[in-house]
Amino acid sequence: MGSRSRLVFPCRASVFSLAFLVPSFTSSAQLSFKPFLTRTATATAFTFLRMASSSSSSVTDGNDINPPPPSSSNDAAPATAAAPPSASSAIDFLTLCHSLKTTKRAGWVRREVQNPESIADHMYRMGLMALIASDIPGIDRDKCVKMAIVHDIAEAIVGDITPSDGISKDEKSRREREALDHMCKLLGGGSRAKEIAELWMEYEENSSSEAKIVKDFDKVEMILQALEYENEQGVDLDEFFQSTAGKFQTDVGKAWASEIASRRRKR
Ligand SMILES: *[C@@H]1O[C@H](CO)[C@@H](O)[C@H](O)[C@H]1NC(C)=O
Repeated sequence: MGSRSRLVFPCRASVFSLAFLVPSFTSSAQLSFKPFLTRTATATAFTFLRMASSSSSSVTDGNDINPPPPSSSNDAAPATAAAPPSASSAIDFLTLCHSLKTTKRAGWVRREVQNPESIADHMYRMGLMALIASDIPGIDRDKCVKMAIVHDIAEAIVGDITPSDGISKDEKSRREREALDHMCKLLGGGSRAKEIAELWMEYEENSSSEAKIVKDFDKVEMILQALEYENEQGVDLDEFFQSTAGKFQTDVGKAWASEIASRRRKR
């Protein structure tokens, strides 16, 4: 799978980067974020996966087949790598996440929807979708809930970048990876930061079954919200139905999208 090889890439390519990055990171959590920006953001995000690597790691295929570099990166990691964030790190992180509650989803703003939902609103209902979905063999539903509530988390820093902003997909991805990296550092690294980075990366890379389901929930949530705005505000948001039509990858995504479409036709 192409997406797997993309996951592998940063690990292979970053032996040098890791040697450079890890000591910089461990010497002080708040130490220069800037120099990192010149490195590949993918490599830096994976720094967390590497640093906090433990036997319980659920890191995806790509990471596991690449043995850790023979450096002392793990030795150099802080003794607290497995610990939850301190109160100070936690509140710093949560304060940054406040903007997820106040940043309105750009698609609705562009269409002049009144009082549009926030990024956090969207992620919350996606979390509920994962929570109420039927069990699917081989799918970790708890992981889907977690992925739903972190998949747009980098937007706390970069905002909701959409195709109409004229920013390339690659540039958007680069900015978001950089933002995620910063947020994980704010959280102090460690196991929680690692989990968030893993979940976010899997979603971004479409590299697990859970990511494919959560990507469907992302679209389902959007068209349900579009239908609600159409009903409440008398606007025509057909473009959101058009842009997602035929793009659902999972049975649950297809079934829920089709239910929404049929309710829309019955209006
Ligand atoms: C994710 O991967 C699947 C194949 O496993 C592919 O069909 C789908 O189009 C991909 N989705 C995105 C959004 O890249």
